[in-house]
Amino acid sequence: MTAGAATSEQEINVAGPDLTGAELTGGLNGWSTSASAGAGVEEMVLLDGPLGIVSKAMDERDTSLIMPSGTALGATWNPELVSEVGQVIGQQGVERGVSAILGPNLNMPRSPLTGRGFEMFSEDPFLTGVLGAAWVDGVQSQGVGSCTKHVVANDTETERRRMNSRVDEVTLRETYLRPFETAVRSANPWMLMMAYNRVNGTHCSQNAELISVLKDEWNYDGVVVSDWYGVDDTVAAANAGLDLEMPGPATYLGARFGEAVAAGDVAPRRLRDAVERVTRLADRTGRRSGGTATAPAQLRSQEEQRAILRKAASESFVLLENKGNVLPLDMSGIKTLAVVGPNADKPCFQGGTFATVRPEGEVVTPLEAIREAAGPGVEVLYEPGAAPSSALSLTDLGSAAPDGTPGVLLEVLAAGDAENVLYSEVRKASAFVWFGPVPGLGAGVPGRARITAHFDLPETTRWTLGAGGTGVSSLRVDGSEVLVVPPPAPDDVMGVVARADTQEVALDLPAGNVQVVIDMAFQPGRVQAITAVATPAQVRDPLTAAVEIAARADAVVIVIGDEQGSSRESADRTTAALDPADDRLVNAVAEVATETIVVVNASRAVILPWADKVKAVLMAWFPGQEFGRALASVLTGNAAPSGRLPVSFPRRDEDIPGWGTGLDSELTLDYAASEPMGYRHFQTTHRQPRYAFGYGLGYTTFELSDAVASVGSSFRRETASDGVSGLYVRATISNTGRFHGRDVLQAYAKAPGEMDFRLVGFAAVSVNAGDTAEAEIALDALGFRRWNSSGSGWTVPSGDWEVRVSRSASDEGILCRIAL
Ligand code: BGC
Repeated sequence: MTAGAATSEQEINVAGPDLTGAELTGGLNGWSTSASAGAGVEEMVLLDGPLGIVSKAMDERDTSLIMPSGTALGATWNPELVSEVGQVIGQQGVERGVSAILGPNLNMPRSPLTGRGFEMFSEDPFLTGVLGAAWVDGVQSQGVGSCTKHVVANDTETERRRMNSRVDEVTLRETYLRPFETAVRSANPWMLMMAYNRVNGTHCSQNAELISVLKDEWNYDGVVVSDWYGVDDTVAAANAGLDLEMPGPATYLGARFGEAVAAGDVAPRRLRDAVERVTRLADRTGRRSGGTATAPAQLRSQEEQRAILRKAASESFVLLENKGNVLPLDMSGIKTLAVVGPNADKPCFQGGTFATVRPEGEVVTPLEAIREAAGPGVEVLYEPGAAPSSALSLTDLGSAAPDGTPGVLLEVLAAGDAENVLYSEVRKASAFVWFGPVPGLGAGVPGRARITAHFDLPETTRWTLGAGGTGVSSLRVDGSEVLVVPPPAPDDVMGVVARADTQEVALDLPAGNVQVVIDMAFQPGRVQAITAVATPAQVRDPLTAAVEIAARADAVVIVIGDEQGSSRESADRTTAALDPADDRLVNAVAEVATETIVVVNASRAVILPWADKVKAVLMAWFPGQEFGRALASVLTGNAAPSGRLPVSFPRRDEDIPGWGTGLDSELTLDYAASEPMGYRHFQTTHRQPRYAFGYGLGYTTFELSDAVASVGSSFRRETASDGVSGLYVRATISNTGRFHGRDVLQAYAKAPGEMDFRLVGFAAVSVNAGDTAEAEIALDALGFRRWNSSGSGWTVPSGDWEVRVSRSASDEGILCRIAL
């Protein structure tokens, strides 16, 4: 049956149904829920997440600590540490008056091309579920809710609002719903966000079958909220079981929920269910009079918070190659160290989403941290070696407001041609988004937004200028109009905003003071945005200078990777490769230098065609704002890399699950083309990944010598939906190298008659050089279930299960058997 849907049940009340608290089911504004005096509930602030706390006003002056991205946390394989990171973001939320943080993202990177892959933990449902639950636990221990998102099959950004994920029930249950199930069962997030997309034809926010899985099967007691603007039908959403429409002002739920109940289209108990759940959230977060909030478990100083982020960053690094033990760097043998690559000086911390976080406090770049760690005895040279591949903000190019203050002048004007300026401020950004009221103007009225920037150019320079936004934008240089950009298509306004789309014009800017103005006239809308960017033409080839310093250095550290715009909300990638300029840089440096170390600052599975030509490759993901110092400590051996890949790295695009398939003419994506995904795709198609899921080196070596499966005294096999608990594998691992190190032992299981193994457990062991340790891996009870498509339920296949203990998904490891 469906969650709370109208049924034939008689609910007769002569005074009419009780509509108390209906307003609680609709948002108040962009980030707040509505209050209800009747229910004694105050407004609650819900803010993005998950990489840090975003600014409610989307204002670059509101800062917060940037956490390691989901994939980086996935690479730690360390639930305790992920929980500590959750505590840090929870505390940041408490300090900013937030009731729930919109994260974590427990979707699965079905393909490495998914635009938001950087937010996702891993390609394995068990690992994602365990780490996601740890993050939720950490956040909620601080008295702040987690809004775990996006239920479900939300791993395609192309047409994300309209596309349909066609997924069979087995795949949905065993893979895509699994992380959410684990998070609900073991950490109970106070909110769950329904995804934009359709699943098997119905939008997730209005999908009664899906919401019934959460509420009826998993007994979920929290709030089920829509993704922002993800509802389009009052009765369908209310009957399906949705509790809250965000953002506000409410269009479909709120008062309309009450009206639908009064009209008899929705059962009164459905409204009571929604009101009760929102009220429970208010209780949990201390936003109801008389309620009891959870007191923060632990408040840390900023230094302590940063120390956790630094530890998480360094534990997330995965060492993929280390030929001749070039790492850790022996600084005593290095007189000149060349650092090359754009990301050394301009690291990338996050992908492009509305959830852009502005770093708080000091940010030390990898280049600065390497300089600091190398000390005065080592000459550190730097060249970027490649130009940025996406356009830059005007402020990054040294813009000034008309009064000479660094930044741009942002103004809001009344609609029309007159100079009626309602708001004006010098800002340090050149892209602005307003959900709801526009400063000085308010909401629901037409108006104009204008950015004015001045540049002092030493000579005539060719630039490409870009402009865009939610209205008609006119771009003027020194008073002459050079570009007019039309407004977005009505059904893609959010896409244009999320992607910060611009149109461009290339032109020669004269020497001296140049004025650039973007003036955008907009109609009333739920969101307004204006974007101005620029790319200066390269005057010389950056590669040559980088190769020159690499050739004369004793060692070269190359830091390359993504930019914020390379992975983004509302747009998928077309290749898993890095920017071609990055590959060219590594190839050119490897020709002239032997001691080359490549650090990859990209938070997804990437193709590394030059990996055999360089000495070391260190995957650094988007590791948060402590990147610089964490990297320097790993490069110099103060910390050892111990991360393991949470995603499989393909050799080429053609090896990606579902390569070559996409949305059909009805915007349906058939999951059959990419399943099983992740490492199971490599197993079942007999392809070799370049680097396997679970793989990673360290500064020492390990040898696995023994593994036995055992049935513990807590063994239980009662209901199939709970799986089988009390199963363990014990393994012996020896540190055969020269340093203390941490290894991650992994257990993969295969049911009788199946083709491939799936992760069912892992354990990290720290062992001193020369020592041997015993590791016990508790196996995942739910991993022994299979969804029985014909009978619509879980079963535990009986017979001989094979359990393989290994150090990656491709490693043969040691095989044990368990009879069930
Ligand atoms: C995203 C969500 C996010 C919400 C609020 C949506 O576009 O899909 O992940 O939490 O916006 O910013």
